[in-house]
Amino acid sequence: MDDRQCKRIGILTSGGDAPGMNGVIRAVTRTSINSGVQVMGIRRGYHGLYKGEVVELNARSVSGKLSQGGTFLNTARSEHFTTEEGLEQAAKMTKVFDLDGVVACGGDGTMKGAAALARVGVPVIFIPATIDNDVGCTDYTIGFDTALNTAIVAVDKLKDTASSHERCSVIEVMGRETGYLALHVGIATGAEIILIPEHPVDRERDVLGKILTARNRGKHHYIVIVAEGAVESSIEVANYIEDKTQIEARATVLGYLQRGGAPTYFDRYIASMMGIKAVECLISGSQNRAIVYRNGQVLDDDLFECLNMTKRIDEVDFQQAKILSI
Ligand code: F6P
Repeated sequence: MDDRQCKRIGILTSGGDAPGMNGVIRAVTRTSINSGVQVMGIRRGYHGLYKGEVVELNARSVSGKLSQGGTFLNTARSEHFTTEEGLEQAAKMTKVFDLDGVVACGGDGTMKGAAALARVGVPVIFIPATIDNDVGCTDYTIGFDTALNTAIVAVDKLKDTASSHERCSVIEVMGRETGYLALHVGIATGAEIILIPEHPVDRERDVLGKILTARNRGKHHYIVIVAEGAVESSIEVANYIEDKTQIEARATVLGYLQRGGAPTYFDRYIASMMGIKAVECLISGSQNRAIVYRNGQVLDDDLFECLNMTKRIDEVDFQQAKILSI
């Protein structure tokens, strides 16, 4: 697709929202307008594309959005879109609105949806944005740094009261399949215990044993960070600790706090650079790409190859976290 052809593009945000998504929409909109390309905001993710919920964006539409969490285009998980009929309808809507390409911003599910659109002939660019940081083709996903810092502030506060009462505070963070948030929150807050889905939990070994060791080392309060996907219930972990050690234990589920808030500098920066890169790809005719962050650089890579890439938490980080909390 050369300059002549790319006259109008669509932008959508899909799946779990992430701080920085508004920065992506802003960068895509202003970069496009600067190149004479019209931008259509697609409301509510792929569902909005399927339903034709499209609104033209201009440079003023995105004023004041960089510092706002969430996505002003809204997001939704769409059952319709996952069917052949839904996909065909969504592809048809790109013709109805005369879109030369679609930028899709979200997590793994959004990347799969972008690939499905590409397979039916819609030029797409995927931008990774999820607080889980679990998209295999990129070192970083937009929203992770903000969620991390939100959780760290919360854990620091919980540590104050756990210290006052000489209690154990069990804190559940988001991350159903992966423990990136839990691991890095744990490292940054000096947690005694970090439970993540990547390491199946043996309560006696991984919880009780570590609490008793910490107490024998003279500790009087304890922080346990739990990824939501690592255990059935963080409340149950707190009850187990209290039953077995007589140390008062309290559970706190941070939940959706981690999904909101003003994006940090890093998320604003990466969102802006990835949005610019996405538009540059479409304008230069490079389509069906994923925008990735690798070795400190914002790059683009083949979307279909990216689909099959995986990554794991850094095991060295996980082991070293134990040393730092002795
Ligand atoms: O994918 C990001 C995420 O926040 C996960 O950490 C969490 O488990 C999930 O979304 C919650 O999804 P929903 O917003 O649909 O409840």
